[in-house]
Amino acid sequence: MTQDELKQLVARAAVDEVVEGEILGVGTGSTVDFFIDALKASGKSIPACVSSSVRSTKKLEALGYRVLDLNEVESIGVYVDGADEINADFAMIKGGGGALTREKIVASAARRFVCIADASKKVDVLGAFALPVEVIPMALGVVARALRALGGDPRERDFTTDNGNRILDVHGLRITDPKALEDQINAIPGVVTVGLFARRGADVLLLGTPQGVVRTARG
Ligand code: A5P
Repeated sequence: MTQDELKQLVARAAVDEVVEGEILGVGTGSTVDFFIDALKASGKSIPACVSSSVRSTKKLEALGYRVLDLNEVESIGVYVDGADEINADFAMIKGGGGALTREKIVASAARRFVCIADASKKVDVLGAFALPVEVIPMALGVVARALRALGGDPRERDFTTDNGNRILDVHGLRITDPKALEDQINAIPGVVTVGLFARRGADVLLLGTPQGVVRTARG
């Protein structure tokens, strides 16, 4: 099976996690795009969504979904999103699509985070995928120096986020303590968000494998 076929498989399985009548949190990325299509095809009824990016908002609205600002919402039931890497504790690297800040905010407001990923995303140690860090533009230099001091090799991405900021992709990290590194990078002045989702990791992982979807819930 191709990677896209595996993404479609988990995207379809994720529809079963959606609770009808509840506000749904929607992440960003190619796997989420497949999920939005599968949700529409299922006919499941949800009152509204909260989206983590302009890209997902456009797709949801084009399919007729109501998209609310997070400030209009008391709580979100389920948040469905992809990942660039996920480990055995359900800590993740996210932000390959550049939407990490809004993803982290929407995830923080959700009762349950359902991660949808193809098998290539499951790793023993996070860090082979360069870690995205969203940075206030004037702080790029100081943040890059601080990241180098932590042992990383930050490279600026040619991309501006939905929030008007820049992304440093940090190569060369072997992340054995994701929560500690998340705290350390968040503490650097000028950092908006680090794409480490360890403090608020996933609650459920749907992993698309050639043998089918494997569902695991965190202990
Ligand atoms: C978007 O900013 C990311 O966090 C995505 O969730 C992640 O990059 C996974 O993307 P794909 O589903 O396209 O692999």
